[in-house]
Amino acid sequence: MNDDDRYVFIAEWYDPNAALQRRYQLLFYPKDGSVEMYDVKSHRVFLRRTKYDALHKEDLYVGNKINVFSRHLHLVDYGDQYTAHRLGSKKEKTLAMIKPDAVTKMGSIIEAILDSGFTITKAKMVQLSRTEAMDFYSEHHSKSFFNDLIHFMTSGPIVAMEVIGDEAIASWRKLLGPTNSSVARSDSPESIRAKFGIDGTKNAAHGSDSIASAAREIEFFFPSSGGRGPKNSATFTQSTCCIIKPHAVSEGLTGKIINYILDGGFAISALQMFTMEKANAEEFYEVYRGVVVEYAEMLAELCSGPCIAMEIRGPDAPKSFREFCGPADPEIARHLRPKTIRADFGKNKVKNAVHCTDLPEDAVLEVQYFFKILDN
Ligand code: RTP
Ligand code: MG
Repeated sequence: MNDDDRYVFIAEWYDPNAALQRRYQLLFYPKDGSVEMYDVKSHRVFLRRTKYDALHKEDLYVGNKINVFSRHLHLVDYGDQYTAHRLGSKKEKTLAMIKPDAVTKMGSIIEAILDSGFTITKAKMVQLSRTEAMDFYSEHHSKSFFNDLIHFMTSGPIVAMEVIGDEAIASWRKLLGPTNSSVARSDSPESIRAKFGIDGTKNAAHGSDSIASAAREIEFFFPSSGGRGPKNSATFTQSTCCIIKPHAVSEGLTGKIINYILDGGFAISALQMFTMEKANAEEFYEVYRGVVVEYAEMLAELCSGPCIAMEIRGPDAPKSFREFCGPADPEIARHLRPKTIRADFGKNKVKNAVHCTDLPEDAVLEVQYFFKILDN
């Protein structure tokens, strides 16, 4: 690496005050982790070269959304040939799906995805209808195993994810292992199907097999415009709401926190990744305004990147889950209530790993906010 190495991107930012999409040239200097931004239209310096530890070379690729000093930036293009050549050539998107037999193991599967260097950019738990499952697997409609496959794929919710990484299509399939879980256990014992699959049909997870099928399958679950895609699996009964906050998602804690929740005896009946706009976060946090000192910082944290909203169910759910999360301040949690989510994963009152519903009467309303209103 040369001392003056730098990567250049075109980034878009939606300025809510002016209701304008602004374009910037974003420069990243890997040597000292500094960033610099220019307004494309006015050619003015927007951000003087400043060290910014939260941004890493791995985050820099077209299509990704990054956060620079609390601004959500969408990287829409490479700014020069050098950057496109150095950072662009191997990145691919694929569709990863956790199948019904492995949804209770999704924490470990998500951990495996993140540990392998992939980024999860979209996620949604859905219950496929028979028609949707037949459509998704239409290439197999004449196969002998088709009926079993459709029966299996509709037997419970699945989790669909858009995953980005270097040669993601092939590397995710390699991590999955052979189609048949028994074969996987003998030929590729560290693979996901070896560890979490059951047999030839119930094989834990799916991965697209080509660039074309990845594009089709991502569009199937996450339609880019108009269409709705399969419905989320929220039940809106006897449940409560939990959000894995953006700082925890970006620290790679998603799989660990999900495992913690499932090991604690709770069920996750809906899950979806959202990137919150400020207006939505304000609406969601309305009850805290003027009540909690850290309100403004809580708001900024919730909008600082993708978060994971979940519907949680379990015995005595709103109350027992709130206790399971621990006191809002992780410092206090570590003293008074160790072995709670916030004690184990929180950093401070604002970056406290998770939000959970406070008042039992708000629980279903908060679940509805994400899974009925935002997911419309
Ligand atoms: P996938 O599409 O789910 O990622 O799996 P794959 O490419 O490794 O395997 P594929 O041939 O596309 O088969 C799709 C799914 O059908 C079920 N299957 N059952 N009982 C059987 O003989 C059999 N063969 C395939 C599996 O769930 C397989 O993943
Ligand atoms: Mg296949």
